[in-house]
Amino acid sequence: MSHRIHALELGPMQNFIYLIEDLASRRCAVVDPAWDVPAIDELARKLELTVSDILLTHSHHDHINGLSEMLARHDAQLHLLKSEYRFWEATEYSPTLYTGGDTIELGESRIEVLHTPGHTPGSACYRLGNDLLTGDTLFVYGCGRCDLRGGDPETMYNTLKNLRDRLPAGTIVHPGHNYGDSKTTNMQQQAEGNPFMHFDNSEHFRQYRMHDHGKLRSQPYHPVSPEAIKKLYRG
Ligand SMILES: [Fe+2]
Repeated sequence: MSHRIHALELGPMQNFIYLIEDLASRRCAVVDPAWDVPAIDELARKLELTVSDILLTHSHHDHINGLSEMLARHDAQLHLLKSEYRFWEATEYSPTLYTGGDTIELGESRIEVLHTPGHTPGSACYRLGNDLLTGDTLFVYGCGRCDLRGGDPETMYNTLKNLRDRLPAGTIVHPGHNYGDSKTTNMQQQAEGNPFMHFDNSEHFRQYRMHDHGKLRSQPYHPVSPEAIKKLYRG
């Protein structure tokens, strides 16, 4: 293992801000700098890490409201997907842009960039070995909203299907918000208990994501069985 992942829960929306520590170089990447930059810096200092990179899972305010301050404090390179940068329409940054399937080198750690649209057009997940940082694409027993500008439930349906089908069951999921009954999970637990992974029909997924989920569930999210979802959309 060449890396470690550290989580900070910050702000009024239970955001997780992550530090990816590269053990060899003592560099770190901050994922979604927001809410309390001094607290993020304090953790990096405590771990004796240099902040060399900043990764965005997407451009929503609650994930980037510390970005300018973070860039002012550190000589750090910003990374995100090209499609998200277009959607964001920010002009004041000089990021390295990706299309998905690319790799970011952080010392000896390799970070794979996955394009996972649905919450926003350019939402990304970042994968290092067995760890997956999912932003607002996948929460513990939940997923990001698709009713905001740039969101699309059909796209999210396909994204979640791809993640479930392509990633090993033991992959550890590090979500963008602490909305579930635990801080992390693995893909197998999500395949078994995440209601958004129980659909085989994008129309029903749309109905659940856009309308029914909000009426039926509250935080913290607990597992939901495939049978419970089937029952809801029978006939
Ligand atoms: Fe978001």
